[in-house]
Amino acid sequence: MPGAIYAEGLVKTFGDVRALDGVDLDVPEGTVLGMLGPNGAGKTTAVRVLTTLLRPDRGTATVAGIDVLAHPDRVRHSIGLSGQFAAVDEYLTGRENLMMVGQLYQMSGRDAKRRAGELLERFNLSDAADRTAKTYSGGMRRRLDLAAALVVSPPVMFMDEPTTGLDPRNRQALWDVIQELVAGGTTLLLTTQYLEEADRLAHDICVVDHGKVIARGTSDQLKARTGGERVEVVVHAPEHLSVADEVLRGFGKGESTIEEHTRKLTVPVAGGAKLLAEVIRELDTRGVEIDDIGLRRPTLDDVFISLTGHAAEAADESAAGDESGAGGSGGAGGAKGRGAAGGRQKEAVK
Ligand SMILES: Nc1ncnc2c1ncn2[C@@H]1O[C@H](COP(=O)(O)OP(=O)(O)O)[C@@H](O)[C@H]1O
Ligand SMILES: [Mg+2]
Repeated sequence: MPGAIYAEGLVKTFGDVRALDGVDLDVPEGTVLGMLGPNGAGKTTAVRVLTTLLRPDRGTATVAGIDVLAHPDRVRHSIGLSGQFAAVDEYLTGRENLMMVGQLYQMSGRDAKRRAGELLERFNLSDAADRTAKTYSGGMRRRLDLAAALVVSPPVMFMDEPTTGLDPRNRQALWDVIQELVAGGTTLLLTTQYLEEADRLAHDICVVDHGKVIARGTSDQLKARTGGERVEVVVHAPEHLSVADEVLRGFGKGESTIEEHTRKLTVPVAGGAKLLAEVIRELDTRGVEIDDIGLRRPTLDDVFISLTGHAAEAADESAAGDESGAGGSGGAGGAKGRGAAGGRQKEAVK
């Protein structure tokens, strides 16, 4: 039986651009599919087709068992979509906006009020709840929009880069709400540019590039294909790059890369913190002075390099209404592995 979201052979072109170039999807009921890909990969186009906002040139899709092309209005009744359906009314307060959505979905006045209060609290909008939305900053609008999409829990939900532009606290709040929804049986397709986020939320991940699904699997499977964790070293002097590279290759289990202008070397490893200590000792023995060293988990870029042999094209489209500057790759915790260990170890070497 096809899943709650199912698509076969979706094609959509815009002039010369094949935004979708034969996409197949199958998302079992009650699970989360993370659609991971850089800017321009076709994620939004896929979401728009599946949510009936755009007709594909070719292919078929069903959502909650309903044919998207034949019965778009029935599909719309079974789904929630952040960013599109939940249009915020500028002249209503945050609370009124959320209550209106609840009432639109036939909640009682009291239930709508309670749910609105809950969501305002979770997205840190309580203080601004009774101000009109037109006084909100870009980041607050974004959170109100997400909250509006979460007032009711439809059987199938779509979220297109929901955390782009959210600061870490609000990102965490959103992750928590999403996890509750899914625990309650909602099926979710979520697009993201961050492996870390797909890792946290998705049961399955499909990686898209140029309108095609280039890999799918669980987060562990994808990470295994990239060679897992990396050791990253910044050497103090450029003349130490080649010795350091030799050392790293000795410990690595994949290609090492050297970035000359930043004096940074990276190699995939298996072995975690213990191995890091060994690398440091060996570099020290060989007389290599280092400015920084750390372990980091694979990023979307690493996944891309190992799948396609090239980096994902620069994601330079800035996040509109960004309140944190966290739209970049540090976004979903990319720096996690490094910090503490890096700093401490560095001291140990000196
Ligand atoms: N309405 C449109 N008109 C023309 N080109 C479009 C349109 N929508 C998307 N595209 C193009 O299709 C490709 C995929 O876009 P999109 O689905 O928005 O990618 P993503 O959401 O992964 O960043 C891009 O090259 C984009 O420029
Ligand atoms: Mg997009």
